[in-house]
Amino acid sequence: MGLESPDDAGVYQISADTALVQTVDFFTPIVDDPFTFGQIAAANSLSDIYAMGGRPITAMNIVGFPLGKLDIDILKEILRGGLEKLAEAEVVLVGGHSVEDQELKYGLSVTGLIHPKKVLTKQGAQAGDVLILTKPLGTGIIATALKGGLASTAAMKKIVDSMTTLNRKAAEIMQDFGVHACTDITGFGLIGHAYEAARAGSIGICLHASSIPVFPEALEYARMGLVPGGGHANRSFYEPFVEYRDTISEELRDILYDPQTSGGLLFSVAKEKHKSLLKKFKRAQVEVFVIGEVADKPKEKIIII
Ligand code: CO
Ligand code: CO
Ligand code: CO
Repeated sequence: MGLESPDDAGVYQISADTALVQTVDFFTPIVDDPFTFGQIAAANSLSDIYAMGGRPITAMNIVGFPLGKLDIDILKEILRGGLEKLAEAEVVLVGGHSVEDQELKYGLSVTGLIHPKKVLTKQGAQAGDVLILTKPLGTGIIATALKGGLASTAAMKKIVDSMTTLNRKAAEIMQDFGVHACTDITGFGLIGHAYEAARAGSIGICLHASSIPVFPEALEYARMGLVPGGGHANRSFYEPFVEYRDTISEELRDILYDPQTSGGLLFSVAKEKHKSLLKKFKRAQVEVFVIGEVADKPKEKIIII
């Protein structure tokens, strides 16, 4: 996809009607339960294929494991969690590689297929388009609260349900509506990934603060200062490209930059198509939120009203 505007996955055309989509992602545990961590890591790794409009077909495990420090059963549970998600996604595990590591790490390399003319990139959003997000924000802040022993069981359940949910159904539905641009919300937070789309498409983005879905506990924890380091880094990097209405609270601002794990899809679709798209999401019982629109100008800026 080129280095000018890096995308969610690499695409390699192998014939007139087939291209490979490839991605890799791995990280240290963000929850305590190994099976759940495996599920989250797999859903997260598959997401970049869905964000390109691809269909994942095979995957390989990547493992760093501290032998002697942790029981090997923990690794078995992680791999079982990953495999369960792959089975749900109808993706075949074809291999993997493990190394001894000071710190536990897990993730997958995933390969998918796509028609070369149907690749969805971060480019292509058009003025007048409606912007749609498929998962609430705040997983990074709530996971930080968990590390500090402050996250409630209810908050943890909400983010675990969200992070283990595949972006598959959302990706399948959006394909029927000629979506103009798509990406998934991960480490750079909503603003970081929205900004990439604004830059790639040379367009402006307007977000409606009151329509942005947020886990309510994330607001509470942000107010307590439980913002991960990556959130602060995102905010200082991307804030120069953002204008907010004065009434937008400090904690909501933190959440807009919160790094997400296995976050939702963010896509741009023609205004005249978005009502029927929302209906189809509703029928399929897949969460979806209209969060703003694409504007001609100011280019490469995000306005939050
Ligand atoms: Co991505
Ligand atoms: Co990625
Ligand atoms: Co090997």
